[in-house]
Amino acid sequence: MSGIEERNGERLVMARAGEQERSLEASLRPRTFAEYIGQNTITDNLKVFVQAARQRGEALDHVLFCGPPGLGKTTLAHVIANEMGVGCVTSSGPAIERKGDLAGILSNLKPNDVLFIDEIHRLPRVVEENLYPSMEDFHFDYVVGDGPAARNLRLRLPHFTLVGATTRTALLSSPLRDRFGVVCRLEFYPPEQLTRILDRSAGILGVEMDAEGAWEIARRSRGTPRVANRLLRRVRDFAQVLGEGRIDARTASEALQRLGVDELGLEAMDHKVLRTIIEQFQGGPVGIEAIAAAVAEERETLEDVYEPYLLQEGLLQRTPRGRVASARAYQHLGIAPPAGQSQLL
Ligand SMILES: Nc1ncnc2c1ncn2[C@@H]1O[C@H](COP(=O)(O)OP(=O)(O)O)[C@@H](O)[C@H]1O
Ligand SMILES: [Mg+2]
Repeated sequence: MSGIEERNGERLVMARAGEQERSLEASLRPRTFAEYIGQNTITDNLKVFVQAARQRGEALDHVLFCGPPGLGKTTLAHVIANEMGVGCVTSSGPAIERKGDLAGILSNLKPNDVLFIDEIHRLPRVVEENLYPSMEDFHFDYVVGDGPAARNLRLRLPHFTLVGATTRTALLSSPLRDRFGVVCRLEFYPPEQLTRILDRSAGILGVEMDAEGAWEIARRSRGTPRVANRLLRRVRDFAQVLGEGRIDARTASEALQRLGVDELGLEAMDHKVLRTIIEQFQGGPVGIEAIAAAVAEERETLEDVYEPYLLQEGLLQRTPRGRVASARAYQHLGIAPPAGQSQLL
């Protein structure tokens, strides 16, 4: 399928939640391991660690979650706090601007609490360095006064669990990464699991949906629960206004087509990226900066949001010299591959 244009400038699949969506998401968010679908290797281990920590009456070891947006990192942080029976204080890397901000957050923690820091790779360096002794020895050093009257003070902290989330581990400094006892990499979800997530969400939203309808949305949700839930809400609108309110394969497929989501779950920006590589850069290799400039999108957004799924689907390849459009990308867009590549098809 080809030729999807950007409709009304909206990014449907762009997997970052806006303000309004966040409150909608909260209602769909699993609260326990039992409700959390998939990522079984990760949750099976976490269940053991949580149970062991609870039995000892201790804080859980620090946990780092990495993976593309919308896969359930924030959800897991809250599930951990809930299953530990402790409070959860949330913040994010860019929000903790100064050392004093960190001191304020840390001094309000209660024993065994979870401190969740989203986008932890974006912590300012000075804040990050002050986080190390808090993570290791549960104290925080600071200076009061200045000049000869300056004194070093040490704030003793209760034991707590730092849960960090990042879209890419490579963005994290190794001293910070090394201080996490548990590091989990979240994977894209297979459609079978997304179907279960959609069934659960439809139940909460009170939407009627049959198995084929769920499957149609699931396989076009680019392996991402946030995208699946978002598409579900949009497809529901179409089903309500244009059909009988019930989501089946036909209403789902029609709605997704109208939303500009193709058979693989790609949207306009994905097409733009692949077309740019093929048409402007002879299929690559081409550097990410050049692609970003050509499609007028931030490099970070391309790397965090769009690229992981294109790589996973084998449409894009990463080489030391840059990005290359694969034979499958030509095929998917209906473009004849260059002579040298045709035998790959
Ligand atoms: N394993 C899961 N099971 C059910 N729903 C999930 C799961 N993971 C994520 N979700 C849904 O997707 C939404 C986005 O998840 P979130 O934890 O905010 O992702 P991230 O923090 O990785 O960007 C949540 O509101 C939740 O409803
Ligand atoms: Mg999150």
